[in-house]
Amino acid sequence: MHTSELEILTAETPAGRDALHAVMQATYHAEIDGVPPRWAGALVAAGVPVAYIVIDPARALERGGDSLPYAFIRDVATHPDYRGRGYFRALMEHSFAALRAQGLALVVTHGRHQLYRRFGFDVFTHHAGIFVTPAQIARAWGTAAPEAGAGRLIAIDEGRGFFPDLLVVRAVHAITAAECRAALLAAADAARARGLARILFEDPPAPSYGSHYPLRLAAETPFAAAARACGALVSVQGADPENGTVPDADWIKVLDVALLLRAATAGRAVERSAQAAGARAAVAFETEAGAATLECDGACVRVTDNPAPVLRWPAAALAQLITGYRSAALLAALHDTPLSGAGQALLDELFPPGWRFSRNESWVYPS
Ligand SMILES: CC(C)(COP(=O)(O)OP(=O)(O)OC[C@H]1O[C@@H](n2cnc3c(N)ncnc32)[C@H](O)[C@@H]1OP(=O)(O)O)[C@@H](O)C(=O)NCCC(=O)NCCS
Repeated sequence: MHTSELEILTAETPAGRDALHAVMQATYHAEIDGVPPRWAGALVAAGVPVAYIVIDPARALERGGDSLPYAFIRDVATHPDYRGRGYFRALMEHSFAALRAQGLALVVTHGRHQLYRRFGFDVFTHHAGIFVTPAQIARAWGTAAPEAGAGRLIAIDEGRGFFPDLLVVRAVHAITAAECRAALLAAADAARARGLARILFEDPPAPSYGSHYPLRLAAETPFAAAARACGALVSVQGADPENGTVPDADWIKVLDVALLLRAATAGRAVERSAQAAGARAAVAFETEAGAATLECDGACVRVTDNPAPVLRWPAAALAQLITGYRSAALLAALHDTPLSGAGQALLDELFPPGWRFSRNESWVYPS
């Protein structure tokens, strides 16, 4: 591949739209109407459209009290005749640079680990599943016909390609014990009516591809407790695509560590304990996406390049910290980097743990 022969054409021009159309015809069609035209791009090699990418550059991850901008790679594909020549990598690297130039520090996507780990993406979502059978529900809660309106308490996923014996309930709207009972009876009834032997409740909801990854402060719901009362297996699992039967996951990548830290700490005051007030706490990050120091003197948090004890983490570990997926102490242990007490207290206060859920496709799809 000679990079001099490569150009990117976008949906801003008729030539770009033609090139996008040509690659989509050979691969699959992707909606481009929902993104600004400059973020739907085709890679053209020596005049031939060979690959395309569609990016939504204006998403936001909710955090306690504010949100963090990110770009979402919606679709990417290379023409089957031109695969294995580095065009996907070229398009991804061009996109990372263009997004970074726009001031974006985070990119998110969904797909196979084989494709995304190699670009420095890592996981940042948990999976939540409550597994139970209609027979277990009947033993604990009886077989009464669900009350009128109980169906509204559960949202059955009518998608295709699921395990043939599985009813997938993608959301439960039950808080009180009576609502939980009604929701269980309604799901058992629906499963029996469809001849399905197992039920998976995704509760909290674990939306699939394209989710906005809402933040939850707890992984456990009242419904989970009610389901346990009939022997349900309640599972909350960190994403582990390498060991699933389906290799897909939701992925996050940091484009620039200093930019990310500034976005994640902008306007944040820190309530220091009386002892720590006025004391300097500082932590430096050194990653493949740059270096930056986070420091706090009294109540003010700043991002600088001052020297401080260094945490050598992959950049995505910082995304896992900031999104609440993993605590500073856990990340320090996982990456074998000692973290001072003052540094940990600062990171804990700025980035409290939280939960973002996405579907575990291995629970739902045969492969
Ligand atoms: C996946 C796809 C985009 C790869 O395109 P490509 O132009 O052949 O990929 P490249 O030649 O640029 O390869 C880039 C890197 O990904 C790796 N890679 C590409 N396809 C791979 C695959 N199927 N499995 C594992 N690794 C793969 C390459 O080894 C290469 O690694 P390296 O740069 O670290 O050496 C292409 O096969 C495709 O369009 N598939 C169908 C659509 C699709 O799956 N899109 C992804 C949606 S999540």
